[in-house]
Amino acid sequence: MKKETLMKQLKKADEGGYAVPHFNFSDIWDLEAIVKGAEEMHSPVIAAALPKVNDALGMHVVGAMAKALAESAKVPVYLHLDHSTEVQVSQKACDENYSLVMLDASKETLEENIKRVKKVVDYARPRGVFVEGEIGMIKGRTEEGNYTEDDFLVRVEDAVELAEKSGLDILAVGIGTAHGFYQGKPEINFKRLAEVNEALELPLVMHGGTGIPEEDVRRAIRNGINKVNVGTIIKYTYLSTVKEVLDREGPTIYTTELMKPAVNAVKEEVKRWIRTCMADGKA
Ligand code: 13P
Repeated sequence: MKKETLMKQLKKADEGGYAVPHFNFSDIWDLEAIVKGAEEMHSPVIAAALPKVNDALGMHVVGAMAKALAESAKVPVYLHLDHSTEVQVSQKACDENYSLVMLDASKETLEENIKRVKKVVDYARPRGVFVEGEIGMIKGRTEEGNYTEDDFLVRVEDAVELAEKSGLDILAVGIGTAHGFYQGKPEINFKRLAEVNEALELPLVMHGGTGIPEEDVRRAIRNGINKVNVGTIIKYTYLSTVKEVLDREGPTIYTTELMKPAVNAVKEEVKRWIRTCMADGKA
């Protein structure tokens, strides 16, 4: 299989009216479920590690594990560093098999955001790695803290300035989505999303996928989203299945037998999201 760059995949998604799905993983079992789900759906996929996963397992180990799985996968699998807030960490990931690294300085001033993202871009570009930045806020509990204020919405002129001055490749936008489970129905500002999309050529990212109804995900895709991030429901499905099996079988069960149903459950959730993103058959 010839592996196209992630930017080519995102461009194809833009032209084809679908999104490349992003799933957060925390170890080899959920990573395997993500790859298997993508293979069964013939979809390209982005597997994303948070800095805390790298802190726990070691960035080198996570990079090597993802590379091994990606190399034997029947579909394109891209490793992504999600929500890194430190320039050095994002730079380091460029040398550890990551295709895409995020530098999230959305909590900083625009000037500081530009400065930090640019440092990562300057390091990543010669290494063929792509960079995701963020503007506006993703609500809820996130790596940078718990954000609940009202001024989350991306300003079009800020998005343009960040993109132009930093040279980033893709941009996560604050449009009302939140990390974690939603209390009630998410209120997404599609109008603002469309305005940002109109002003910028580059692919846009929607964070906080868990709990967004299918029709809203698709509406966001129609309005310019090319990458949809899904995390919480992956972790929840994984851990609740492990708990269920442990409650039933007890801890004398062999680990691989415990993990089989967990991998299957996560795989089915991954497939459901791939359909929602309309990425099935697009590998
Ligand atoms: P959820 O955990 O709400 O699905 O969001 C995931 C995410 O945006 C990761 O960047």
